[in-house]
Amino acid sequence: MSVHKEVKKVTTHQLQEMKRRGEKISMLTAYDYTMAKIIDHAGIDVILVGDSASNVMAGYETTLPITLDHMIYHASSVVRAVDRALVVVDLPFGSYQGNSKEALTSAIKIMKESGGHAVKMEGGREIKDSVERILSAGIPVMGHLGLTPQSIYKFGTYTVRAKEEEEANQLLEDAKILEQSGCFALVLEKIPAKLAGEVAKSISIPVIGIGAGGGVDGQVLVTHDMLGMTYEFSPRFLRRYLNLYESMTGAFQQYIKDVKSKDFPNESEQY
Ligand code: KIV
Repeated sequence: MSVHKEVKKVTTHQLQEMKRRGEKISMLTAYDYTMAKIIDHAGIDVILVGDSASNVMAGYETTLPITLDHMIYHASSVVRAVDRALVVVDLPFGSYQGNSKEALTSAIKIMKESGGHAVKMEGGREIKDSVERILSAGIPVMGHLGLTPQSIYKFGTYTVRAKEEEEANQLLEDAKILEQSGCFALVLEKIPAKLAGEVAKSISIPVIGIGAGGGVDGQVLVTHDMLGMTYEFSPRFLRRYLNLYESMTGAFQQYIKDVKSKDFPNESEQY
């Protein structure tokens, strides 16, 4: 008899329940099968196939170059690994800004070809129509406000957003618009903790922060950053749980040494 343990999958509804009972939501990025499998088995609630793959996986300076097909490749690899977590996939730059019909076409392509469970989009009032149209097709949407890296050339820098009253008020209004449009959750990136906490209190959907303090409903980090694989990126909000850059470099150097010295393979490592 095979013993198959039924895994209870995380749903958008469950995330909203978690907010209601004050249980914090954990979210990390993944772009490939192996990493997604480890993260899912660790018990994460949400895996984000972020367009940060453009930086982390492809080495581009910004998130702008990554395409819909690249995102689908990453997302389908992640989906094949995941038993429990909710998999959210970023709509990449240029795949939804044109109009709501284009946004829907892109969201449908992602859902059909990757098997992801929801999409994420950057922006506030300007994407309202697109959010509503995507939702009308039954696709859950996560919003993203504050520092929105797809608009880096408009902002000019990656510094903290919404420090001034006018931008803070606009962000709060945008968060309410996204909630009313039907977003199931919202990411807030790199804004003052006080403002993020206020947003989380003002809307009923879960608010997941990155560099947005502890007053929100959950946290997200880029996995490669929290594992210390990307040593050159050191913002204040980043907590490093490992220093993998150093450990991996050490392992690679030892392997090179072992090959050169003919220590590897030894008697027991051959046929
Ligand atoms: O692309 C990404 O990894 C993200 C997170 C930083 C929220 O959008």
